[in-house]
Amino acid sequence: MNPCPKFKESTWDRYNRDLMPAELVCFNPSCRTRYPITEVIYNCPRCGALLEAVYPPAPDPGHLKKLWRERRMNNTPLDQSGVWRYREFIPFLDSIDVVVSLREGNTPVLNAPKAAAYGGLKRLAFKHQGFNPTGSFKDNGMTCGVSQGVRLGMKRVACVSTGNTSASMAAYASAAGLDPIIFIPHGNISYGKLAQALEYGARTLQVEANFDQILALVRTLAERTGIYLLNSMNPFRIEGQTTIMVELMDQRDWRAPDWVVLPGGNLGNTSAFGKGLRQMLKMGLIERSPRLAVIQAEGSAPFYNLMQTEARDTLTAVKHPETLATAIRIGDPVSWPKALHEVTTSGGVVEKVTEQEIADAKALIGACGIGCEPASAATLAGIRKLTAAGVIDRDADVVAVLTGNVLKDPDYIYRYHTGQLKAPNGTQIRPAFGNQPLVVPNDPERIEALLADNTRES
Ligand code: F0G
Repeated sequence: MNPCPKFKESTWDRYNRDLMPAELVCFNPSCRTRYPITEVIYNCPRCGALLEAVYPPAPDPGHLKKLWRERRMNNTPLDQSGVWRYREFIPFLDSIDVVVSLREGNTPVLNAPKAAAYGGLKRLAFKHQGFNPTGSFKDNGMTCGVSQGVRLGMKRVACVSTGNTSASMAAYASAAGLDPIIFIPHGNISYGKLAQALEYGARTLQVEANFDQILALVRTLAERTGIYLLNSMNPFRIEGQTTIMVELMDQRDWRAPDWVVLPGGNLGNTSAFGKGLRQMLKMGLIERSPRLAVIQAEGSAPFYNLMQTEARDTLTAVKHPETLATAIRIGDPVSWPKALHEVTTSGGVVEKVTEQEIADAKALIGACGIGCEPASAATLAGIRKLTAAGVIDRDADVVAVLTGNVLKDPDYIYRYHTGQLKAPNGTQIRPAFGNQPLVVPNDPERIEALLADNTRES
């Protein structure tokens, strides 16, 4: 069996062949050097800035909306993917033969009245990226990054990760028949994520250093050995993640919300959402852009700190980032120049929240029957803070993006609900929404008596 699905030539192939090719362009406005889309570079060779993919003018927005909607009725793997269904939005490949898809995307938008009330809003919806094949938004980007790797003839791929990128890369690389090598901070990723990397067959190296230090190491290794890097400075990862916003707008019949709220770590997702929104505006798919609100954990908030400065021209790294939301335990985010541009362009804000706030918001999202991993819950904690401060209006139309599945970090959940969760500085987290499991005897009468008591301990 061929694990890497092959797709027949589509309108997209024909469309791409007839147009100018996509290109990589330096993100630095005073450089903007252009490179072929097939160049294996992660930064501008001339000035060192990040790169982004740019495309020739797209077809009529009305035609695209219709085409994309029709594809939902189609059983071909490419159209079933919530990323590749929107392939005219990310036309960087010249053939769909290389596409590696696990039917990523297609994530729901869930209304959560209880969470809305907690966040000080009249209504709130979660776009839950935890419904992805490996349980996080990384799959939207990884299908593109790995497909580009296949196109370039790469054999080995690598990433450093706080857990989700590595889980996703392991799955997609293995599905494509590539050799995945992952680097993770020893002792600082959740077991759910580590387990996925092992199960999906990645060579897993636990390095005794933090995310930022390992990223520097992996970049050196990639340069020396020619391994293809799939961290978010890889512009094709970002391309895939732009479709999260496209799918959201499609689900909302192209009516933009007032705010999109998301957690910020290495800031790839903020960059992707901003790019996606700008591109949709330019193409005439939406009439206005939502504002981005990026939420960081207090102990790992270099982007928040940057936004407090007057000039906003240099990010000061947090040397020893700390948070129990290990997915966003990052002190020196690579994509900050892009994220700064996107937050500013959208009229957005950056907020930070405490460990206690994240933990309670997370349990509240769970109690809505939705659930998410700790980093994702920073969104609701941030919303609560931003509505209290009057930054987000109580009547606003808000979508928060839950980035990871509830089962990614079960250890955190158990500790929270049993009152054993401690912040990195040793402070005890007091569970406002704790839900202790009870040990009971094998005795129906005593269990009946217990269930008759409707007051629940917290
Ligand atoms: N939420 C989750 C669940 C994540 O895994 C990450 C990042 C973020 C939010 C932050 O996104 O980096 O684009 O700002 N996880 C990366 C990883 C760093 O290695 O899995 P970002």
